[in-house]
Amino acid sequence: MSNATIDLPKLYDAAADFMPLLGTDYLELYVSNAKQAAHFYKAAFGFQSYAYKGLETGSRELESYVVIQDKIRLILTSPLKSGTDVGKHIDKHGDGVKVIALWVDDATYAYEEAMKRGATHYMKPTVEEDEGGRVVRSGIYTYGETVHVFVERKDYNGLFLPGYRKWETPSYNPEPTGLKYVDHMVGNVELGRMNHWVKFYQEVLGFAQILSFDDKDISTEYTALMSKVMSNGNGRIKFPINEPAEGKKKSQIDEYLDFYEGEGVQHIAVATDDIIGTIKELTSRGIEFLRVPDSYYDMLAERVGNIDEDIEALRPLGILVDRDDEGYLLQIFTKPVEPRPTMFFEIIQRKGATSFGKGNFKALFEAIEREQELRGTL
Ligand code: FE2
Repeated sequence: MSNATIDLPKLYDAAADFMPLLGTDYLELYVSNAKQAAHFYKAAFGFQSYAYKGLETGSRELESYVVIQDKIRLILTSPLKSGTDVGKHIDKHGDGVKVIALWVDDATYAYEEAMKRGATHYMKPTVEEDEGGRVVRSGIYTYGETVHVFVERKDYNGLFLPGYRKWETPSYNPEPTGLKYVDHMVGNVELGRMNHWVKFYQEVLGFAQILSFDDKDISTEYTALMSKVMSNGNGRIKFPINEPAEGKKKSQIDEYLDFYEGEGVQHIAVATDDIIGTIKELTSRGIEFLRVPDSYYDMLAERVGNIDEDIEALRPLGILVDRDDEGYLLQIFTKPVEPRPTMFFEIIQRKGATSFGKGNFKALFEAIEREQELRGTL
C-alpha cells in the first residue's frame, strides 16, 4: 500500500461501527515524580494547571496532577508508598504512558463488546460520582502493559473526573505553546507481533488499517522497521504500530523495547496550527529536538514543491516537511523526555496531508542513529 493514497470514505466503510469512539479523552503517564513532571509539562510544553488528587483529597496511595492544553489532557501519576501497581510499573518501564483513554457514549457497552471480541480485562465498568455527576469507566489491555480506558462522561459536568479537585497555581502559569490535540499515538511492539496487534485493533475496536510501511520504505544503513497505521471510523483516533525488522545493528525499536522492557507507547504526536511559532517557543523553553543535516533543506523545495512557509524559517528550527496526494505536513520530533531512551513527542501541523511523513523517515532515522551511537546502543 502506498503512503500517497488514502481513500477516507473507503476507510470509514472498512472500519466497523460496533465501537463508536468519540475521541481521545486523556492520557495517563506513570512517572516517578508527578509533582516535578507537572512543572516540566507546564514550563517546557506550555500545559496549564488543571486538577489534582492526592493526600489532601483523600487519595492515600497515589498522587495525580492533571495538566491541559486545548484538547490535550495529561494525567501524571506517582505512588505515595512502596509496593503499588504504579510503582511496579515505573520500576519496570521507567516513566511512560499507561493509559490511552477513549471517550465513549457507553463505557459498559464498550467494555462488554470488547471483551466479547477477545479483549483482555483491565477494569470492569466502574461508576464514580461527585457533585459534578456521574462518570463510568472501564478498561482493556492493549500492547505490553498499556491499557485503553473507556470514559463515559455524558452525565458529568464536573471539572475532570470524580475525586479530583481544581489545581490552582496563582504564581506560575506559563503561556501555552499552541499545542491543540493528539493527532496520533504510536506503539512499539515485539518482533513478529505487529499483525497480532493489527488484528486486535480490527476485531476488538473496529479499526481499519489505513497505511503500511515495510523495510523497503523505512531502512537506513543500520536499521529497519515495519509500521502499520490503524484508524477508527471517524478518523479521530490513529494508532500506528511499529515492529522491528532485521537490520545490521540494533534498531531504534529494539532499543526502545530493551529499555522499556516490553511493548509500549513510542511517541505522542500533538498538533499545532503554527508549527514555526510553537517550535520557536518550545526551543526557547529547553525542549530538545532531533536534528537532520542541513543538506536536508537544500533539497527540500525540489522534493515537496511549493509550501506556504519560508524554507529559511524552517531550517534553523529543524522542522521537516513531507507531501502526499492531499497536501503536505510539517513535523519535528523531540528527544526522549525521560532518562531511558523511550517515549518522545512529535509536533505536527497538517496542511491537507493525512499521512505520517514517510519522506522524512530516512533522514530522521539517521538522526536517531547518531543519538543511539552516543548512547552506545546502536
Ligand atoms: Fe508520528
